[in-house]
Amino acid sequence: MSPSLPKPVMNTIQPPMSTPEAMIDMYGIVKTFKNAVGEVTVLKGINLTIYRGEFVSLVGKSGSGKSTLLNMITGIDHPTQGRMVIGGTDIYTDMTESQRSRWRGRNLGIVFQFFQLLPMLTLLENVMLSMDFADMYEFEERPQRALEMLKLVGLETFANKLPALVSTGQQQLAAIARALACDPPLLVADEPTGNLDSRSANTIIDLFEELSRRGKTVLMVTHDPSLTSRTTRNITIADGLIVGDSRK
Ligand SMILES: Nc1ncnc2c1ncn2[C@@H]1O[C@H](COP(=O)(O)OP(=O)(O)OP(=O)(O)O)[C@@H](O)[C@H]1O
Ligand SMILES: [Mg+2]
Repeated sequence: MSPSLPKPVMNTIQPPMSTPEAMIDMYGIVKTFKNAVGEVTVLKGINLTIYRGEFVSLVGKSGSGKSTLLNMITGIDHPTQGRMVIGGTDIYTDMTESQRSRWRGRNLGIVFQFFQLLPMLTLLENVMLSMDFADMYEFEERPQRALEMLKLVGLETFANKLPALVSTGQQQLAAIARALACDPPLLVADEPTGNLDSRSANTIIDLFEELSRRGKTVLMVTHDPSLTSRTTRNITIADGLIVGDSRK
């Protein structure tokens, strides 16, 4: 473990019960990567509560640990120490890997920086896939629901196109439609507008704002100050620790 790491966090912080209105409760999240050269501690004991309905931007320099932290929330990777309670469930203690994967499909919308749409499937099929994977909604309902999701992001006329035949902005909107298909209470997005022109970026932020107004919790990593000005809370991470947290 790195010498700069704070005192053992798991032993010093007793996780209280999750507060009812909390969507995410983190207790002493530490992440250390081991590789051939040695160990690097990227998250150094993060304690953070994000409440239901908040629209949060997470900022920080490249390499500060933003994506690593998101991966701890989504359960895509796991912390070295600490507890992550989401919607009242301790996702690392209370669930097996396969339960976590099922939980993720049903409770989380994830938007990656590089869309990750399947290139051989149409936009509609890409959106349907997340419902198939989570086994949510009746089989016959899924195409109609997928179309509604594409309508929500203004892409209904492109439903039968392959990703390569639409713009990058439209691909990202389709990825957001896919993330919303199972109606998750929590949406997590890693630089969702990173590769987009400002008009497409604004469409996405308008949508996120509307979703949080309707009660969804939205957590977004961004580098763009014009986007952080639109969120209700701004968290800054530096060198694996939270160094700023402001609400409007
Ligand atoms: N699997 C890994 N193995 C070793 N080191 C890693 C691994 N993943 C991330 N890191 C290191 O952890 C640090 C934080 O990476 P992370 O991707 O979380 O940063 P970030 O804040 O998202 O940066 P960016 O703004 O460039 O996306 C970096 O120094 C990175 O090299
Ligand atoms: Mg990143």
